Amino acid sequence: MKFFIDTANLDQISKAAGYGILDGVTTNPSLIAKEGIIEQSEHIKAICAITPTPVSAEVLATETDSMIDEGKRLAALAPNVVVKIPLTMSGLQATKELSSQGIRVNVTLVFSAIQALLAAKAGAAYVSPFVGRLDDTGLDGLTVVEDILNIFGNYDFETEVIVASIRHCQHVHRAALLGADICTIPFAVIQQLSGHPLTDKGLAAFLADHAKVAAH
Ligand code: E4P
Repeated sequence: MKFFIDTANLDQISKAAGYGILDGVTTNPSLIAKEGIIEQSEHIKAICAITPTPVSAEVLATETDSMIDEGKRLAALAPNVVVKIPLTMSGLQATKELSSQGIRVNVTLVFSAIQALLAAKAGAAYVSPFVGRLDDTGLDGLTVVEDILNIFGNYDFETEVIVASIRHCQHVHRAALLGADICTIPFAVIQQLSGHPLTDKGLAAFLADHAKVAAH
């Protein structure tokens, strides 16, 4: 399973790249705004200068033609830019057009398996179901991911499934068990993934045992 980082923070992206486990970056308008950025082009270029992995940059346009224009502008920023398009009928049309021109599209704001099927049929390279936001409504977001993976397997779609809106390590664990292609994970959760109290306890004991002998 590939690990993307779900942030627009340059420091966090650099640190995650340094850990040696970074396979991509996803941003969205909220994450860009969190960095105090109004016009995202230069910031997306700065992210792409940190990592050659796929970097999703989302369009703000909502009509098909303007989504296509904005998507082309974003894709021209760097070879690793993936254009993120929301799952609307206009978004599906834009996805079809951009994909047919060889531009990779990540269809976002996906909350059902049928929405994911539509995105795959439109030629999306990636589809992003939001598990945390589904959980918030009282559903189990990862059952939607399971359905998407089964449907894509039934028809041999090449669209990769990005499990998005990850809130905790259990989301990542279950996504891996399901065979999801990618998890896009906030920096805080990436840091939590390596932690285990028995690892900390074991390391402290090893160092204490060594120190006792070294003191003699
Ligand atoms: C990633 O592509 C999504 O934009 C992101 O995971 C949404 O996460 P949130 O529900 O925590 O905002």
